[in-house]
Amino acid sequence: MSALSFRNVWVEYGSQIVLERINIEIASGSFLSVVGPSGAGKSTFLRLILGQERPSQGAVLLDGKPFPAEPGPDRGIVFQRYSVFPHLSVLGNVLVSYEFEQRPFTARLFGAARRRAIEKSEALIEGVGLAEHRDKYPSALSGGMQQRLAIAQALARRPRVLLLDEPFGALDPGTRAQMHGLIKPLWRDLKMTIVMVTHDIREAFALATRLIALDRPRRDPQAPERYGAKITYDLDLTRDGAVPVLGFLKTGMG
Ligand SMILES: Nc1ncnc2c1ncn2[C@@H]1O[C@H](COP(=O)(O)OP(=O)(O)O)[C@@H](O)[C@H]1O
Ligand SMILES: [Mg+2]
Repeated sequence: MSALSFRNVWVEYGSQIVLERINIEIASGSFLSVVGPSGAGKSTFLRLILGQERPSQGAVLLDGKPFPAEPGPDRGIVFQRYSVFPHLSVLGNVLVSYEFEQRPFTARLFGAARRRAIEKSEALIEGVGLAEHRDKYPSALSGGMQQRLAIAQALARRPRVLLLDEPFGALDPGTRAQMHGLIKPLWRDLKMTIVMVTHDIREAFALATRLIALDRPRRDPQAPERYGAKITYDLDLTRDGAVPVLGFLKTGMG
């Protein structure tokens, strides 16, 4: 079953065509990686899934149905730069996700409901390896820890689709490898669909089940805005034989 379907999707800003004729079915439970040069429309692609962006033509469907008008808890996003609340502790940052879910107006839980939410938050914090930092504030955490916290916060909403926009791009290689070790089991255990934009093709190969490249196949030097990006590669990484294409792809990337 396809979690997400793009049907002839175009995104245009005035006379600038960003994405043109995007058609893709993203299977439920898959881990899709999106690569492409800067400005190709990768973040726009994610915003379409998040519901923050509307296609100028075509449709994006979630489980075969048009999107609700608002971004919902079924889709969560983690950006390259940590999006955690600086005035809340590690526990508070995860707890707030449960509070918003159950009490959208006051974001406050009391008594047994609060205790249950704390237990669930603590389990997630443990899952991302921050148990001993539970009461610290983000300013006392390293970049990698803040990013792990952002992931725990997104996971607390139990999204069906988790969107990652270059989530590990600002991290050093060692921390990045740790994050890879964290995200893959989470994806498997929680049976989420993940769509991850990355600059690092090796990262895509290490994590994803499918890789697409977004790029402009045609360029008009007189009118650079005239053509949008399309899906120029679509590789199934679960099959043997995908790897030889890697060298070819690398030379094509900016
Ligand atoms: N809100 C917007 N208004 C006008 N142009 C935009 C807007 N958002 C993105 N763009 C343009 O769309 C193109 C693709 O942007 P983006 O999706 O951020 O690319 P990427 O993430 O691949 O670097 C860029 O040329 C950018 O300037
Ligand atoms: Mg981007």
